[in-house]
Amino acid sequence: MTPEIGIFGGSGFYTFLDDAEPVTLETEWGPPSAPVTVAEVGGVGVAFLPRHGLGHELPPHRVNYRANVEAMRRLGVHTLVAPFAAGSLRPEIRPGDLVVVDQLVDRTWGRADTFHDRFDDGPRHVSLADPYTPRVRRALLDAGRRTGATVHDGGTVVVINGPRFSTRAESAWHRQAGWHVVNMTQYPEAALAREAGLDFGGIALVTDYDTGVDGDPDVAPVSQEEVFEVFRSNVDRVRALLFAAVADLAVR
Ligand code: ADE
Repeated sequence: MTPEIGIFGGSGFYTFLDDAEPVTLETEWGPPSAPVTVAEVGGVGVAFLPRHGLGHELPPHRVNYRANVEAMRRLGVHTLVAPFAAGSLRPEIRPGDLVVVDQLVDRTWGRADTFHDRFDDGPRHVSLADPYTPRVRRALLDAGRRTGATVHDGGTVVVINGPRFSTRAESAWHRQAGWHVVNMTQYPEAALAREAGLDFGGIALVTDYDTGVDGDPDVAPVSQEEVFEVFRSNVDRVRALLFAAVADLAVR
């Protein structure tokens, strides 16, 4: 079956569907991070790809984002949803919460972030003014309400290169700029989805407070262990939300 919906798995989110058929693909950009698994959810084909690989062997700056997005496009998906682990930059966005983001700031560098490396067929400048498709955001928010998760409607994700976390000064700057969550993978996924003509949605699973919350000396800076532990204990909520969203996501 041709999948309509593509889902990228993140840290601690390596499988989505039982009895899914693995599809091994090559793209002109190289192989994706892992075989893509395709299965049916309520009559809708869903393709799943863990962006860091099945054993989390690919750090954020080494993920072949072009191959991953191209693999989804080649399989026929029209809508791509990218759940991701994120640090919170605001006290009211708590670890365990979900954020259906509506903007991003790219602070990555050196990543292959375009399918248009040459303009042989003429210029190709896409608009990324609105990186997240409103229809996809609505479907994710509605599903979040139905599943009872704490879901924040909107927010800006600032994407750092990693794999290290931010310094206190960087984190304070990100907070002062008014951004909401910080992550390492939403860029270039959003840009490549736009270039590929795919509708795109991003959903943050908040795992930590980055370097802490202003004025609260008890909040320790984020550690890798904290991110994986909080993600592991909340990933089923993300799964439930995605399952609940599939039918709406399929209506374009
Ligand atoms: N992913 C999860 N938590 C993060 C943080 N604090 N900074 C960057 N990426 C993250």
